[in-house]
Amino acid sequence: MNPKPILGIDIGSTKIAAAIAQKSDEKFALAGFGEVRSQGLKKGVITNIELASKSIKNAYDQATRIAGLTPSKAIVSISGAYTKSICSHGLVNIPNQEITISEINRVIQTALYNANIPYEYEILHVLPYKFRVDEQDFIEDPYGMNASRLEVDVHIITAPKSALFNLKKAVKEAGIEIENIVLAGYASAIATLSPEEKEAGSCVIDMGGYTCNMVVHVGNSIVYNDFLAVGSAHITNDLSLALHTPTSVAEEIKIRYGDLSAPQSDYIEIPVIGDEETLNQVSLEIVYNVIYARVEETLMILANSLEKSGLKEQIGGGVVLTGGMTKLQGLRELAVAIFDHMPVRIGKPKKIDSEIADTLEDPKYATLVGLLLYGIAEGTPYEIDSNKKLRYKNEFIELGSSSLNNLTLTKEPAQPSPQEPEEELLETFEGQLEFKEERLTIKERISKMIQWFTQLF
Ligand SMILES: Nc1ncnc2c1ncn2[C@@H]1O[C@H](COP(=O)(O)OP(=O)(O)OP(=O)(O)O)[C@@H](O)[C@H]1O
Ligand SMILES: [Mg+2]
Repeated sequence: MNPKPILGIDIGSTKIAAAIAQKSDEKFALAGFGEVRSQGLKKGVITNIELASKSIKNAYDQATRIAGLTPSKAIVSISGAYTKSICSHGLVNIPNQEITISEINRVIQTALYNANIPYEYEILHVLPYKFRVDEQDFIEDPYGMNASRLEVDVHIITAPKSALFNLKKAVKEAGIEIENIVLAGYASAIATLSPEEKEAGSCVIDMGGYTCNMVVHVGNSIVYNDFLAVGSAHITNDLSLALHTPTSVAEEIKIRYGDLSAPQSDYIEIPVIGDEETLNQVSLEIVYNVIYARVEETLMILANSLEKSGLKEQIGGGVVLTGGMTKLQGLRELAVAIFDHMPVRIGKPKKIDSEIADTLEDPKYATLVGLLLYGIAEGTPYEIDSNKKLRYKNEFIELGSSSLNNLTLTKEPAQPSPQEPEEELLETFEGQLEFKEERLTIKERISKMIQWFTQLF
């Protein structure tokens, strides 16, 4: 029997890409692929459900036609726009001294309970990044250990209910069910980071069409994520404005002549907006200056975000840049200078076997490949996913009622998150939702308790 196909759909701001892959004992192979231009999205967020839904369906149809398979459930990406991150801590007693999956679930759920998730936000990922067993710190995996106390630090990524509602609706209207929703930057990290880079700690920045999504992986998981509403399409717009030329021409110039290594002295002839019969002579030095200014500013904002995260000293693996924008010549060298000479590399997604002509080994498919890998085994060893289910190395754990026995709740105040978006980022983030710290009413607290208890079974 053929293994269950995995369908990943990356809903990017310039392209929507769908891929179907199958895992067998020997390999993980791509079976189908489809890509269309995004419609109904702005800066990574769905703004027109009908248009977005049509694009999703077109990409899905292309992929299923090639694969000859029609998976009904998809793992879809969500942009980091509007997401909020919260850090929390959980502590439980282990009365029978042995840490099983049930205790691990209990401690992660306790950390989740301790966090004040704003009412209008929903959980995307609860990622435990540090376990402590009795007094022992830095435990990689507490499973099977003997202890009387288990503690965990978690990074909780949430998204506004409204953004999730639109995403779910657009996917549903395309005739596809959602299996999981995954933060785009997290998926890109899964696709690009090597085990050594994870071990040493690394920062992954997916530089796409209209957005940059940053995640920092330290210890067992992601501990920081940030978002900037700027991408390669902004370079195109800058060129179009500076050179008075249509966007399609500006895009071509960017791809063909974009090179940050050194300004060139040649001239090119380009059409002028409004009078496309007339050709204007433009120096490539101007092209260089326009591109350089935008990329330098973008990288500086990102470097500043990494600095403010306070995690710079913990990322021995350096910075991995991925996404379509990283195909710009000389970007890596400029990033090295701006990121204080940290190691920087351009990350192509991990190889997936493919007998079909299309290859996904392009930085612009990092999120897509990450979604497929999330569907098999990769990601954080333990995680509570967007369905609020505990995944353990990708197994969904069925927990018996015994998990509530001897439950000791330790309610702690939620820690202030170091993940607040920086002011600079907010400035470029149009339409940022106002974030209000909700004060929970007694009714809400009771419903939260009930919700939490039901999750334990
Ligand atoms: N050689 C190149 N130089 C600069 N930019 C490039 C190059 N090739 C492609 N791009 C840009 O990459 C962008 C697409 O990248 P990608 O597919 O990663 O974005 P996306 O996933 O659709 O968007 P986002 O991640 O922002 O939602 C386009 O804006 C395209 O112009
Ligand atoms: Mg993208």
